[in-house]
This record gives sequence, structure tokens and C-alpha cells, in this order.
Amino acid sequence: MFCCVGSNRKNEGKKDPKWRIFSLKELQLATNSFNYDNKLGEGGFGSVYWGQLWDGSQIAVKRLKSWSNNKEMEFSAEVEVLAHVRHKNLLSLRGYCAEGQERLIVYDYMTNLSLLSHLHGHHSAECHLDWSRRMNIAVGTAEGIAYLHHYATPHIIHRDIKASNVLLDSDFKALVADFGFAKLIPDGATHVTTKVKGTLGYLAPEYAMLGKASESCDVYSFGILLLELASGKKPLEKLNPTTKRPITDWALPLAREGKFSELSDPRLNGNYVGDELRRVILVGLICADSRPEKRPTMLEVVELLKGDREKLAALENDEMFKIKSASVSDSGTEDSSETVTEDMEPKQEIEDVKL
Ligand SMILES: Nc1ncnc2c1ncn2[C@@H]1O[C@H](COP(=O)(O)OP(=O)(O)OP(=O)(O)O)[C@@H](O)[C@H]1O
Ligand SMILES: [Mg+2]
Repeated sequence: MFCCVGSNRKNEGKKDPKWRIFSLKELQLATNSFNYDNKLGEGGFGSVYWGQLWDGSQIAVKRLKSWSNNKEMEFSAEVEVLAHVRHKNLLSLRGYCAEGQERLIVYDYMTNLSLLSHLHGHHSAECHLDWSRRMNIAVGTAEGIAYLHHYATPHIIHRDIKASNVLLDSDFKALVADFGFAKLIPDGATHVTTKVKGTLGYLAPEYAMLGKASESCDVYSFGILLLELASGKKPLEKLNPTTKRPITDWALPLAREGKFSELSDPRLNGNYVGDELRRVILVGLICADSRPEKRPTMLEVVELLKGDREKLAALENDEMFKIKSASVSDSGTEDSSETVTEDMEPKQEIEDVKL
């Protein structure tokens, strides 16, 4: 039934033949000694550099910050575990380097960079993302996460699904990056954690408040990503210098009124498949329901996005999409109680927030 998601299952346990340990010298040579000009960006765990190996292949090297020596064994062991997780929509590791204080992870370089760069970054004006590419990215990303949740051993909760962690290869195929990362960083915890690792705007409310990670937190973040992909809007839109509106607060009322064209990214110029747009928006909204028990599993999300009629019919009839009188407020995503003010958002990334 879920053949597509599970199709790579047989690959699990096999490492890519390219997988190996890199020397620090080799990575320094490849990246021009981690030159600033080679830097692709910086995230919560360190910086990523573009590099080229002696054979001409392009790599992306993630240089982890702050690493304590006594974690050496754990680092290698955890990286080895991740090396076995392989799926067509997951950015797999090519190898790693652990020398002295340096901890580096090597990936294939993705020529079309991240979804973030196409939606809001320096590629956004070029409009490379037509509707069919967006649809493939939606389904591919869902399949990658579904694999992590349901087929990888051990099962992996991503905890940081967002547009910069969806990379695009030369064919604009989506590859989910940075899965299993929370376990690689110092004091990395198990699946249930009391630390929040995530990005504001994508964080499930219960995860932000209680710090308990679960698969449904990833489903929430993926829902936000779907809304972002369809609309081209950011997860939190700046309304004025002090207030930001969550994308769900904007999208849900429009979806209830059936105004799907208003929800589509203006850069699409109306060039989209109406049924598919509607599907992506409705699935995005149900995934981003503030009540975790209402959210579908990622396997269900894959089926919904692929157009499973029965599941879609049930979704369309969900009470969430019924127009309600102004006085009625449920615990769903509809009211603006989640509106974020600058005071509440000291920085974009939330990491290591002890709750
Ligand atoms: N293999 C890769 N190919 C191309 N670009 C990459 C690759 N890996 C990472 N990047 C880009 O490098 C930048 C930095 O990545 P990094 O993962 O450190 O930060 P992030 O994704 O913004 O945040 P987080 O630490 O939460 O994952 C991002 O823009 C990311 O999309
Ligand atoms: Mg990342």
C-alpha cells in the first residue's frame, strides 16, 4: 500500500559505496581551508562549506561547533548509524572526519541549494519552482520524512523540518537534510527530550511549550512547510515592526471560504492545478493543527498528497474547514493567540532552550 515510501527499504543497512572517513587535510584542501567565500550558510550546529574533492566531485561540509573530546566514540557511532539510513528523498551522508577538536560531516553538494533559497532567498526572483516541481517537492519531502518515522531503524524524529533543510538536486528533487542531527550534538538526547531544537514558525506548540519531541511535531512542521510551498509566504509574516502572523492564521479563514486562488503564490501567475493546490493547502492545515491528536501520520500525509480519494473526502469534511460564527473559538489553529510579537521572539533559531 505504501510502496513508494517503503521502496527503498531493501537498501537499509547498506552503506553507499562512496561512504568513507575523510582526513582533515583533505577537507581543508577541498574547502580552501574553510574559506569564508566557500561558506554556504550557518545553522544551529555549525557552518556549511562548499568544497571540491580531488576527483572533481562537489561536496558540502558541515563543521560542527563546540565538541567535547569525550564524546568522540558517540560521534562516530551515531554518524555510522545515520550512514545506514538511505532513501531517495533523504540527503545521505558521504562520510565524516573526527580529528582533534574538529567534527565534520560530508554530504554531496546539492546544486539547486535549498527550498528556502527558492522561496525567499536569492533564487526567489528567478521563479524556478513551477507548480509541478512544487508538487513533487511536497510528495518527495513527505516520503522522506515518512521513511524516517516508519521504516528507518531506529525510527528518527527530525525535529527541525523547515525550508532550509529541504535541499534540491539538479532535477529539483527534494532531499531532506539534517535528520538525526539532534543526537549528534553534545548532550544530544533520546527521542523524548526536554530541550527544544527547532525553528520558530515551524515549532509545534506542544513541543515549544513542553519540549517533548514526537513524530507529530514533525508533522506540524511539515504542514507549515506545505503552506509555505503553496503560498510563497514565510511561516511568520511581519505585519508591522512588532507583530508577526503565523501562516496558519492567514490561511485557515481563506481555506474555509474556499478562496484557494488567494492562497496560491502570486509568482505562479495562476498556473497551478486547482485540485492539487487545494489538496496541499488542506493537508498543510490539518498537519499544522495545534492539537497533535488531530494530525495525520506521515504515511497518511503521503497518501493524501497523492490524491487518495477516500482520505481526501474525509479531510474536506473535517470540522476544521467548516465556517464558524465569530464567537466560536475552538482549540484549533484559527484564533490569533499564536501571533508572535518581537518581545516573544528574541532570535530566529531556538536551540538548547531549557524548559
Ligand atoms: N548538501 C548541501 N548542498 C547545498 N547546500 C547545503 C547543503 N547542506 C546545507 N546546505 C545549505 O547550507 C546552509 C547552512 O546549512 P545548515 O544546516 O548549517 O543551516 P540551516 O539548515 O539553516 O539550519 P539547521 O542548523 O537548523 O539545519 C543552508 O542554507 C543549507 O540549505
Ligand atoms: Mg540544515
